Amino acid sequence: MTGAGTVGRVPFELGEEYVQDPHALYEALRADGAVRYVLLPSGLRAWLVPRYAEARALLADPRLRKGRDAIVAAFVRQYGPPTGDEDFPLTGHMLETDPPDHTRLRKLVNRAFTARRIEALRPRVREIVAGYLDELAASAPGESVDLIARYAFPIPVTVICELLGLPFADRADFRRWTAALLSVEDDADAGREMAGYLTGLVDAKRAEPADDMLSALIRAGDDEDRLSQHELVSTAFLLLVAGHETTVNLIGNGMLALLRHPDQLAALRADPGLLPGAVEELLRYDGPINLATLRSTAESVEIDGVTIPAGEFVMIALSGANRDPARFAEPDRLDVRRPAGGHVAFGHGIHYCLCAPLARMEGALAVGGLLDRFPELRLAGDASTRLRWRDSTLIRGLTELPVVPHA
Ligand code: HEM
Repeated sequence: MTGAGTVGRVPFELGEEYVQDPHALYEALRADGAVRYVLLPSGLRAWLVPRYAEARALLADPRLRKGRDAIVAAFVRQYGPPTGDEDFPLTGHMLETDPPDHTRLRKLVNRAFTARRIEALRPRVREIVAGYLDELAASAPGESVDLIARYAFPIPVTVICELLGLPFADRADFRRWTAALLSVEDDADAGREMAGYLTGLVDAKRAEPADDMLSALIRAGDDEDRLSQHELVSTAFLLLVAGHETTVNLIGNGMLALLRHPDQLAALRADPGLLPGAVEELLRYDGPINLATLRSTAESVEIDGVTIPAGEFVMIALSGANRDPARFAEPDRLDVRRPAGGHVAFGHGIHYCLCAPLARMEGALAVGGLLDRFPELRLAGDASTRLRWRDSTLIRGLTELPVVPHA
């Protein structure tokens, strides 16, 4: 593929089939070239990068920007000047900034999110997992339960609510807002409601600090620098969304992969020491984030003979990169013993996932707990039972995962 610019270029349309099975399409795209101009289901046109080497290089390439000005410029190039008020309290968090703003925000948040604070959570995460395992154990023998709703979702949500200091009772609202904000049809009302809620919460914590992360974020900083009110609200939003929409799918996609590969499941049961490596393999094989978040080119960028002009969107396919045969031998084979390190399920470069240690801990405890507690765990239904994937190009996750915990 050659050429500069998008004028007259016909994008390759990504539809429902792609949302349901991105891996099949990535295989074809990887064979075809290092970059492909596509039309996403949301209507956005972007340059998709499906191979590992280019994906990893571009994740760390400063010519790709995430800051508001760069993203707005690319939108204007595609859709024309904006109409109405574009300012929004949930924007401008670290995943939507470039250095030096990103460096400053990440540093301040890191002060509250220390490795020690995360590790100190381990006993509590174990306890939370045990509580949900007990609930599954209370199901009738042979009864089918939805592992997403009953286990994979509530564990990370309970953890993030406790960590941030959010009332667990409000979780139905968080779930509705985060799901609405990440679906193919973006929802402005959900954004406004969530912003109002988080602003109230930040104000309440400021007035009455507690021993939680939101209070620590309010305190984080020094005499010279602190997070502003806007930054606190958007950071709380980012952490809440990340806490709701990612680890759930490490547990859900991971358990589906294991249950579909009984030999791998048996190997893991036989040797629990394989668990940390298996979590990496599950992240590689079918990770929770399909496409990395939106980036745009600050200048023209050449990839494998294709010139992407300045001001265009680039989507980096983490799920495509993680199954690139040039990087991982027999990539479509689940192998809990393979050295899966180097996958890009947590991203790469300056935006590498801030909470990867927490996500890994939750994933290992949740998957390990299930294997330990339910030796007869199996998928409900038969081989023809069709599972549905979430209506999102960012998130790769099941809507439901019916399983039978015990016979
Ligand atoms: C298995 C679970 C998770 C996966 C696969 C995951 C994946 C990712 C990825 C791919 C990125 C970079 C996106 C990009 O560059 O476009 C990212 C960034 C981030 N993640 Fe995670 N994440 C997970 C869990 C979490 C959790 C539990 C939290 C915190 C509660 C979290 C907080 C963040 C934050 C704050 C960033 C932005 C970092 C920055 O911009 O510097 N993530 N994550």
